[in-house]
Amino acid sequence: MEKTVQLYEGKAKKVYATTDENLVIVDYKDDATAFNGLKKGTISGKGVINNRVTNFLMQLLEKNGVPTHFVEEISERETVVKKVSIVPLEVIIRNISAGSFAKRFGVEEGIVFDEPTIEFSYKNDDLGDPLMNSYHAIALKLATKEEIETIKSLAFKVNEVLKAYFLSIGIELVDFKLEFGKTSDGTIVLADEISPDTCRFWDSKTHEKLDKDRFRRDLGNVEDAYIEIRKRLLGE
Ligand code: TMP
Repeated sequence: MEKTVQLYEGKAKKVYATTDENLVIVDYKDDATAFNGLKKGTISGKGVINNRVTNFLMQLLEKNGVPTHFVEEISERETVVKKVSIVPLEVIIRNISAGSFAKRFGVEEGIVFDEPTIEFSYKNDDLGDPLMNSYHAIALKLATKEEIETIKSLAFKVNEVLKAYFLSIGIELVDFKLEFGKTSDGTIVLADEISPDTCRFWDSKTHEKLDKDRFRRDLGNVEDAYIEIRKRLLGE
């Protein structure tokens, strides 16, 4: 299997076709954006860290019964994944109030919920990824009712596995965004990435932010936060 043409370039990754029609290669960039591309920058070394961290977490999830698109890491920044058609929904799970939740409902950050919440955004940059509920997603034929049910139960399973794992390394999993894809035979699998770009991680003791909020909010020490997450997860 070999890399052929570039299929797509997103804000944080490039995707290449391969000589195997069922596989693609993702290539993680150091580019960082926030607020739908309004804020732009570079986080040096981010691509390498997000590749390693995502692959570690995808394998942990596979071991715990969550099907994912992961196939094989082939270099510092590149990974072979199953070719899927992405369900155009951002699936957000929250354990603690933060970010847009705190803003929308006028509450402080840091309220620990009794139960996790789930929400969907329509993955559409031109519209600014508007919030939608599952009925809207079904009406717009973004997914079937059955697919939405599968996505919801997988997303909560991901939360159970990751929340417990992060707690064991001294990190509170505040919230995160997932994307799912459909393989050629119609199976729903976890896709995209799970990294400090797409999760909020707070140190359990100090509550220090160890994720992309350091970039979004100009808090400084952005690279160090990514390095700390890699170190706690991978010991490197
Ligand atoms: P939010 O509080 O801004 O809605 O973000 C919730 C979570 O989703 C947070 O962990 C960051 C992640 N996220 C993304 O991965 N991509 C995005 O475009 C946005 C807005 C949030």
